[in-house]
Amino acid sequence: MASPAEHGCSAGGGPWGPGARLTLRRPDDWHVHLRDGALLQAVVAHTARPFARAIVMPNLRPPITTAAMGAAYRQRILDALRGSAGDAAAAAFTPLMTAYLTESIDPDELERGHGEGVFTAAKLYPAGATTNSDAGVRDLAHIPRVLERMERIGMPLLIHGEVTDPAVDIFDREAVFIERHLQPLLQRHPGLKVVLEHITTAEAAAFVAEGPGTLAATITPHHLHINRNALFQGGLRPDFYCLPVAKRELHRQALRRAATSGSPKFFLGTDSAPHERQAKESACGCAGIYNAPYAIESYAQVFSEAGALAQLEGFASEHGPRFYGLPLNPGQITLERRALDPDGPGLPAVLELANGTGTPTRLVPFHAGEQLEWALLEA
Ligand code: NCD
Ligand code: ZN
Repeated sequence: MASPAEHGCSAGGGPWGPGARLTLRRPDDWHVHLRDGALLQAVVAHTARPFARAIVMPNLRPPITTAAMGAAYRQRILDALRGSAGDAAAAAFTPLMTAYLTESIDPDELERGHGEGVFTAAKLYPAGATTNSDAGVRDLAHIPRVLERMERIGMPLLIHGEVTDPAVDIFDREAVFIERHLQPLLQRHPGLKVVLEHITTAEAAAFVAEGPGTLAATITPHHLHINRNALFQGGLRPDFYCLPVAKRELHRQALRRAATSGSPKFFLGTDSAPHERQAKESACGCAGIYNAPYAIESYAQVFSEAGALAQLEGFASEHGPRFYGLPLNPGQITLERRALDPDGPGLPAVLELANGTGTPTRLVPFHAGEQLEWALLEA
């Protein structure tokens, strides 16, 4: 990454003062929910703006369980992007597809999908852990042949790491998953590449940092910005509700240290998970934070606050592809530091996004109403 001096940035706010520019290798998003139909059409351009590739989660209804379904979904993503952002945007973006593991999924089908270049990885949802996870796996002991096959063919296993045991407190479900399920899994399958997705605890950060080279983790922007107080700030705040749920401040601090540490085991995965406004603001509101519109800006702010902008490129653009065994992206993006205006308007409270129907999709973005100090310059 270029140093600030190479960009001839202006004085006035230190080396990264207002007007400073930060150029990075084009990043990827290693965990995103792009949805389907009108919602897909509304959101996909936000992800394709900074990111060259994205690992697309398969928790649709019905879930993506065959190579044919994965290939058809990939085509719908590219068609929606072409429709909303044009041919050049669609040509510059590669959706990397994932298979949804069920207890009856056929290892041959998985291997075929991987071999044909449809499935980059497979996602493990413990049944009942989160949105559209009912068809997931009740017990890892039920899918030994699938795990053996993935280990043999080098297909990464992406894990939603929370136990579903109702006796376990919701704030402890990730730490208990690591102890009860992840540790034994890594022992049984020492060659299996595993990504613990969207980690939220100091326990997860330490376990991954100290674990084998086959283990890595993604970290979301929201878990770097908010702790669990945000859910109850002045009332019940559904826009900050996601799974795994945000934890105490000490965990957020541990995640910030992990993300900005330079360790190749941690990389960018937004877990951007749009739900329409009325689905969030209901008596049983859906879990998921829509952070795609300002994701790279959000991460840049965290690294900037930590004095670790020199580590952002590794986290956003290098550690992920190296773990997955994929090439680094050739292009670049540039972010510019803006002066915050205490009287200025914040980011929109609600986005009204065209979706190919007559009625726009209304989504509340993460950082609604706030100002962010880094802005992505258009290529
Ligand atoms: C995700 C969703 O809505 O699909 N929700 C979330 O809170 N992150 C599912 C998931 O990744 O758990
Ligand atoms: Zn997710």
